[in-house]
Amino acid sequence: MNQVLESMKSKEILNSEAMYKQIIEYSVETIFIHLESKFLYINQAGADFLKALKGEIIGGNVLSIFSEDEKDLIRERIEQAMCGEVTQAIEKTIIRFDGSLVDVELYCHPVQYGDKRAIQTVLRDITIRKETEKMLQDRQKLASIGQIAAGIAHEVKNPLTSVKGFLQLLKETNSHPYLFTMENELEKAIDTLQNLLQVSKPNLHEEPIIKIDVCKELNSLMLLFQDKLYNIEIKMDVRDCDKHILGKKNLYLKAFFNLMKNAVEAMPLNGILRIEHYFQDDYVHVKISDTGVGIPKEKMNLLGTPFFSSKTDGTGLGLTQVFTTINDHNGQISVHSVVNKGTTFHLKLPQNPGGM
Ligand SMILES: Nc1ncnc2c1ncn2[C@@H]1O[C@H](COP(=O)(O)OP(=O)(O)OP(=O)(O)O)[C@@H](O)[C@H]1O
Ligand SMILES: [Mg+2]
Repeated sequence: MNQVLESMKSKEILNSEAMYKQIIEYSVETIFIHLESKFLYINQAGADFLKALKGEIIGGNVLSIFSEDEKDLIRERIEQAMCGEVTQAIEKTIIRFDGSLVDVELYCHPVQYGDKRAIQTVLRDITIRKETEKMLQDRQKLASIGQIAAGIAHEVKNPLTSVKGFLQLLKETNSHPYLFTMENELEKAIDTLQNLLQVSKPNLHEEPIIKIDVCKELNSLMLLFQDKLYNIEIKMDVRDCDKHILGKKNLYLKAFFNLMKNAVEAMPLNGILRIEHYFQDDYVHVKISDTGVGIPKEKMNLLGTPFFSSKTDGTGLGLTQVFTTINDHNGQISVHSVVNKGTTFHLKLPQNPGGM
């Protein structure tokens, strides 16, 4: 009876070992087992990740995937794990067999491998996490630069406005052709500062909340571009025009204008500008699409960041104004873009923006 029980037990152990092996082998994470710095085992995901065949890895030195100055620390970690100490996950850059570098998070713990006590190390690729963190940092940096710039804009705008006033007086008493050019240039500078202030301190421009007929406004805005659009076809698909929204009209108009301007600028030679309006799920939807240059994937996260521009004469404030306005009205905005195919900005505007 005892023998039967024992053989059932050892069968169970064998089964669970085989199962454990399978779980490790088919895990999507890199898992390897090593002893005295030698690879004893690596799963398939690990071999793929390290860019080598299992046969090339097994028997090799584990420390070879770390840079010289990291080796002591890794050795120390392995020793700690060997003594059964709980080691926390650490972030390191490893060198793969093809020489490429990759950021990983790794942790080690002791395991029984056959009759030996060895170390199991798990590596997790954190490239995307690192990139996202960096992007977020860049974005925050840019946003604070934007805030500083807005402070300066505020200070500079007042003296410029008074210069403009004096220039006008001068024009009345002493007309000179240069004065017109000076006034034009000055107006451009004041306009830029005004835009900057509007996106960083929109509350400075208190505007009443009124009823807006979005269809009507889209139709009139589209006409503003007509003289520039000789090679661009405009397609208007506006439905549900009886649905109006409440909001700050000038801010909304500027946002629609900025989106149409970007769309037109994305099609320097020719293309189709499509403007859609419809009502669905309690929201007024506005879509502004172009068949232009598109936005590369890596730039998508930067859209709306103050001063992000790929244009030689762009200020990079257009989309900041759009995002600020839509967010302030509790709307939603999404962007779909394919390089060399085109871009769609999809706005979902609530009929009533709530507590603004
Ligand atoms: N429809 C679009 N197609 C392709 N790229 C776009 C589109 N809309 C925005 N972009 C990209 O986003 C960037 C930022 O746009 P944004 O409107 O904020 O600034 P800008 O157009 O460069 O300058 P401006 O302040 O004069 O509007 C653009 O420079 C462009 O690279
Ligand atoms: Mg723009």
